Amino acid sequence: MAQLKWVVAALSACFTVAASLSPSSAPNVNYTELAQQLSSSASIYLPGSDAFDDVVSRWSNLSVPVANIVVVPGTEEDVVKIVTFANEHSVPFLAANGFHGSVTTLGKMTHGIEIYLSQLSTVEIAQDGKTAKIGGGIRAKNLTDALWAAGKQTGYLGPGLGGGHGWLQGHHGLVSDQYLSFNIVLANGSLTMIDETSDLFWGLKGAGHNFGIVTSVTSKVYDVQYPNYAIETIFFSGDKVEEVYELANELWITNGTSPEGVNNWSYWYFDPTIDPEKPVIVMYIIQEGRDTVDPVHTAPFHQLGPIMSQPKSGTYRDLAAWTGISLADGPCQKTGNANPRFPIYLKAYNPQSQKQIYELFREATTSPGTPFAGSLFMFEGYAMQGVQALADDASAFAYRADNLLVAPLLVYPPGEALNAEARALGNRMRQVLFEGSGQATLNTYVNYAYGDETPAAWYGGDAWRQERLAALKKKYDSTGRFSFYAPIA
Ligand SMILES: Cc1cc2nc3c(=O)[nH]c(=O)nc-3n(C[C@H](O)[C@H](O)[C@H](O)COP(=O)(O)OP(=O)(O)OC[C@H]3O[C@@H](n4cnc5c(N)ncnc54)[C@H](O)[C@@H]3O)c2cc1C
Ligand SMILES: *[C@@H]1O[C@H](CO)[C@@H](O)[C@H](O)[C@H]1NC(C)=O
Ligand SMILES: *[C@@H]1O[C@H](CO)[C@@H](O)[C@H](O)[C@H]1NC(C)=O
Ligand SMILES: *[C@@H]1O[C@H](CO)[C@@H](O)[C@H](O)[C@H]1NC(C)=O
Ligand SMILES: *[C@@H]1O[C@H](CO)[C@@H](O)[C@H](O)[C@H]1NC(C)=O
Ligand SMILES: *[C@@H]1O[C@H](CO)[C@@H](O)[C@H](O)[C@H]1NC(C)=O
Ligand SMILES: *[C@@H]1O[C@H](CO)[C@@H](O)[C@H](O)[C@H]1NC(C)=O
Repeated sequence: MAQLKWVVAALSACFTVAASLSPSSAPNVNYTELAQQLSSSASIYLPGSDAFDDVVSRWSNLSVPVANIVVVPGTEEDVVKIVTFANEHSVPFLAANGFHGSVTTLGKMTHGIEIYLSQLSTVEIAQDGKTAKIGGGIRAKNLTDALWAAGKQTGYLGPGLGGGHGWLQGHHGLVSDQYLSFNIVLANGSLTMIDETSDLFWGLKGAGHNFGIVTSVTSKVYDVQYPNYAIETIFFSGDKVEEVYELANELWITNGTSPEGVNNWSYWYFDPTIDPEKPVIVMYIIQEGRDTVDPVHTAPFHQLGPIMSQPKSGTYRDLAAWTGISLADGPCQKTGNANPRFPIYLKAYNPQSQKQIYELFREATTSPGTPFAGSLFMFEGYAMQGVQALADDASAFAYRADNLLVAPLLVYPPGEALNAEARALGNRMRQVLFEGSGQATLNTYVNYAYGDETPAAWYGGDAWRQERLAALKKKYDSTGRFSFYAPIA
């Protein structure tokens, strides 16, 4: 039986909450019956406890899923029990892992069970050192510490199911390209092993949130080849936006010599200590296997006359902190702010569009009294060789051909009026980028998506992709139990 720490303390609270909901949305379910079926290491959190509050709050406080109870399975078999119980009682459920999922479709969950996977966090490295079996609820930081390998500071399966970008993709491809098999609890509650012999294998790698709860995954792992990393952070005045991205295009895209071990990011944000009037352009040029970035990559930028330039050296494990996304940084905290992004994949920069969105961003972040001052514009240029080494149809991840992942991240305190304003602003910026790209389709990363995009934008517009995904959904989840996160049409 599950630890009843919170059940005993707060059982009445559970029923109070259930009773106060409309009967159609919350049938009166006796969760003690569920608790009795679970392993001794499972836990249940009920409303009114700090543990509950902590694991229902999310990184982005916009259109969040609502749960009446949180169940923390102790074993893979517990997940079977929970899903079966939920099915018997027609209660919705949602897996939770790192709480960074922010797509607004999650808000369609208005009651039910949150299945918090934190205890499924084992890492077993195979004897030959080439694969590892990884628990479905592992945090990337823990995995990195354990393995010194892929990923960053969020849940690991959360990103992987949608594709999974990371520092090592230039060598090895996406996080999901490493998966060899999944243990998964399907919509009907059966625990199944899915590998390349299954039709579902393809779908789990890019559209994985739609099909089940992954209790563990077997993934390729690699020996650490380049422990040391160098970064140079170069700050430019916003006046130079066209020049900076013209040069970036020339260096990174047109000349097309991007070495596998170099990643280029840039951020825009308003930091009045650097520029009191307008957002600053911050380029991060990151190179593996070195203590300083090769000047070949940085000298052309120095010639543009930056405000300043900061070289640093360290190891793979410093990357998250250098780019402002370590566990200690703002982006990892739950602040109560809404944090929607409006992503678009691009092949190259259009310097004129960059100038236009810069102006929109400047106005949004610096006009007097603006609620959006803490926002961030992200331009992620991960190395692409490993991603593009696989055929375009290798998995449900649709955008191997795109070089850049670009998104405004609007940070503000949520509320009806500001939500509407943010949505309009974010989409307007994205529209400028889309029109300037000359692309025929809006390509978005499902894991950054706002939520108002179409399934074609999340999973690829090709008819064959949509048909293949629809067929898998019909076969494995015809009743839409897994349809809160960017659902396939
Ligand atoms: C600060 C920050 C940094 C990021 N960095 C990266 C990055 O480097 N690379 C990248 O690719 N993306 C990155 N992302 C995006 C990230 O991929 C998504 O936010 C992803 O949804 C996070 O997963 P999670 O486990 O944290 O979130 P959760 O909200 O817990 O989960 C997201 C969705 O996945 C489902 N899910 C989680 N685990 C499982 C499982 N085991 N089985 C089935 N379904 C599951 C949940 O039900 C939910 O629908 C980042 C996001 C943030 C906010
Ligand atoms: C819930 O189920 C348990 C176990 O079957 C039972 O002892 C308890 O009386 C039930 N509670 C209610 C309110 O029905
Ligand atoms: C995971 O990492 C966190 C923070 O780094 C740490 O507190 C925790 O003990 C780790 N968990 C496991 C299972 O290693
Ligand atoms: C790009 O390549 C061309 C042709 O090799 C070269 O003339 C040009 O200088 C390169 N541009 C940069 C910025 O290195
Ligand atoms: C990153 O920038 C460097 C320096 O301009 C360039 O040589 C490299 O090709 C770029 N890599 C990617 C992945 O864009
Ligand atoms: C999330 O936003 C709502 C307003 O939409 C607010 O009431 C709530 O306190 C916020 N949550 C957190 C954890 O700050
Ligand atoms: C559950 O669904 C899968 C996939 O459709 C199917 O193969 C399996 O037989 C089903 N199991 C049960 C017990 O119905």
